[in-house]
This record gives sequence, C-alpha cells and structure tokens, in this order.
Amino acid sequence: MPSPATISRIIQALEPSATMAMAAKAKELKAAGRTVFDLSLGEPDFNTPEHICQAAIDAMNAGHTHYTVASGIPELKQAVVEQYAARHGLDYKPNQVTVANGAKHALHNAFTVLLNPGDEVIIPAPYWVSYAELVKLTGAVPVIIQTRQEDDFRLTPQQFRSAVTDRTKILLLCSPSNPTGSMYTPEQLGELADVAIERDLLVVADEIYERLVYPGHRFASFATVRPGLPERTILVNGVSKTYAMTGWRIGWTLAPAHVAAAMGSLQSQQTSNPCSISQYAAIAAIRGPQECVDEMLAQFTKRRQYVVERIAGIPGLSCAEMAGAFYAFINIREHLGREYGGVRVDDSSQWCLELLAQRGVATVMGSAFGSEGYSRISFATSMADLEAAFDQIAAFVQ
Ligand SMILES: Cc1ncc(COP(=O)(O)O)c(C=O)c1O
Repeated sequence: MPSPATISRIIQALEPSATMAMAAKAKELKAAGRTVFDLSLGEPDFNTPEHICQAAIDAMNAGHTHYTVASGIPELKQAVVEQYAARHGLDYKPNQVTVANGAKHALHNAFTVLLNPGDEVIIPAPYWVSYAELVKLTGAVPVIIQTRQEDDFRLTPQQFRSAVTDRTKILLLCSPSNPTGSMYTPEQLGELADVAIERDLLVVADEIYERLVYPGHRFASFATVRPGLPERTILVNGVSKTYAMTGWRIGWTLAPAHVAAAMGSLQSQQTSNPCSISQYAAIAAIRGPQECVDEMLAQFTKRRQYVVERIAGIPGLSCAEMAGAFYAFINIREHLGREYGGVRVDDSSQWCLELLAQRGVATVMGSAFGSEGYSRISFATSMADLEAAFDQIAAFVQ
C-alpha cells in the first residue's frame, strides 16, 4: 500500500481551501437534519440569467461542442477587449487575452508561467484563500504583508516598498477585495504603481469584483492609473461573480502578448480549452443586456446595508467599510479568550467552528485569509437567511 509520503512534497504542503471546507461542513450538518445558515461561500445565490443559459443551448444546437483554440475562441477574446475599451479606455488586442477555466485557473496560469522557485510574490493580508497556495504550487514564496483595519485593509506604498527584495517579482492586488470588501482609490493604486515601476515589478490585479461596487465608490482598473502599466500588469477577471456563473468556469487574463502566449501554451498541454459551451455563454453575458448585473447589485446593496447595521448593533463586533464585493470581514477580537457554552474559544478558527456547531451559522475563520481575529461572512445569500444568521450570531456572542 503506497504511504502518504508518495504524495509530492509540494502537494503535501498545500492547505485545502478553508472556504470550501466550511461549506462542506455546513452541508454535512444540513444533511444530518440541522438548520444551517451558510455564509461561507462567495457565490451569488441568483440563477444565471435566462438569456445566458439560452446562448449555451443555442451553442450546443449549433454544434459548438468540440475542442476550441486552447486559449479561448476569438469571438470571446474580441468581446473581452471591447468591454475593456468601453469600460476602462484600455487598448488591449485579442492576442493579449487568455480564457481559462475560471479566474482561479487564470491566476494559476499566470503564476505558473511567471514564477521560478524562490521568486517572491508580495500579498497583502487579509488575502483571498487561494493566492498563497497557488504561489506555493510554483515553488515561489508568498510574502505576506499585514494591512490594518484602520487603513481599510489597504497596502500602503511604504509597506510595499519595504517588503521589496531582490527576489520580488510580483505584487498581487485584489480590489475590490475578497475578504474585506475594501477597494483602492485610483490615487492609491497610482502610488503603488509608482513603486512597482521604480522597482521594475509585475502586478497581478484581480479585478473579479469590479462590477460589484456600491454607490458612492468608483472602481479603477489598475492598468489605467499610470501610463505604460499594461506592459507590467496581468489583469484577472471573469463571469463567475458578475453574472452568477460560478459553475460555468470561465475567467480570463489580459496580459502582455508574450505572457498571454505562454499561458496559452501551458493550457494547451494542461487542460486544452475552457468548456466550449461556457465560452459562448460568456459572450452572451458580456455582449447581452446588462440589467441583470444592476438588479443583482441592487440586491447586494440592500444586503450590505443590512449587514453593516447588524454588525454595528452587536457589541464588540466591527468591520471596515465595504466598497465592493459581497463580504464582511468581521473583527471578533473582543469575543475571543472566553467560553461559549462551556467551550473555551481562543482563536478565529475555534470561534467559527463553535458558531457553526452551537448556532448553525457557517462563516470562515480570519486565519484562512492570513489575518487572525476575524471571521468572514458572505452576504451572497437571501435576506431571510441573513436575518436568521445574525440573530444567531448576536445570541452566540451575548
Ligand atoms: C478574489 C477572487 N478571485 C478569484 C476567484 C475565483 O473565481 P472563479 O470562480 O472564476 O475561479 C474568487 C472566487 O471566490 C475570488 O474571490
């Protein structure tokens, strides 16, 4: 019988996704008959809009059920570049687009083609759970920089500058952020870009939540904030969050042409193409009516307001302002170091596990995002579930 040591050292060191693990625990409890309010997964609870599903059916009927070009069909690449020109005034060419099996895969592609073992990637914490692990898969080193709640969890140019070493290759930015919902202003992005230019670094900018931005806030794509940035930037985006298409697995990068070509050849050996039918659905999403995005954003806006009020109403809980995305990163420090129903709780992991076990609310521990003392909730769930979940959280901490 092969021993666990047969698993490669790189994979042995890989942390499984904590969000997926909490969601699986929540499902297990539900299957056992418990009432569970699942605020763990970052997945819109809406169905994919009808016209997008219809485009997939039409694609199948038209025979688009075969292999495509590994880096994506030309029509989708064209739709992506036109969208970036219209929304951000950016002049990308289709050969700079690589369509992948979701934004997570797009990130993995980017790291794989850019990083050598020992290279360093600066990742501001709290960070989305997969970043550090995807970097580690390449043999490169994630360098985690803690940001502060007082700074709305934004990396400062001083922090960035002092983290740069001779081995630094990439700065990774996520704006709007999963898990905090905070977003950089164009001016703040500009200051970070100045350091990247001065130290000749690449920037991977994960902009998957760019359309989920709340009233009073303005999104700027990193590539627009200084001239010449597209030459050192890999933009990551996709349809998963904007169009409630998490299961369709379509994401993409916009990158310098030689980086895009490298990702295309990686994909040709690794997964071949992203699902042909999903690619046609993604074209319908991008080119079709956008009212569905506004309608979903209106729902998220109401829920965000509700979540902000509930957090403010529970003594000892706080969070930074959410400018975008659908998460709240709740500071729970005042509620650690005490007992809950006879169980001592000292860290965010224990807190989240007890909240789930005792009150049936699934959240994700801050430690999974590189920041202890917090718990992340996703409000991509119904208002009724949010109300019930917050009643349970209030009762739990009181
Ligand atoms: C910041 C961020 N980037 C990328 C992804 C992955 O998106 P996809 O489902 O398209 O792989 C997620 C999903 O949770 C995310 O939150």
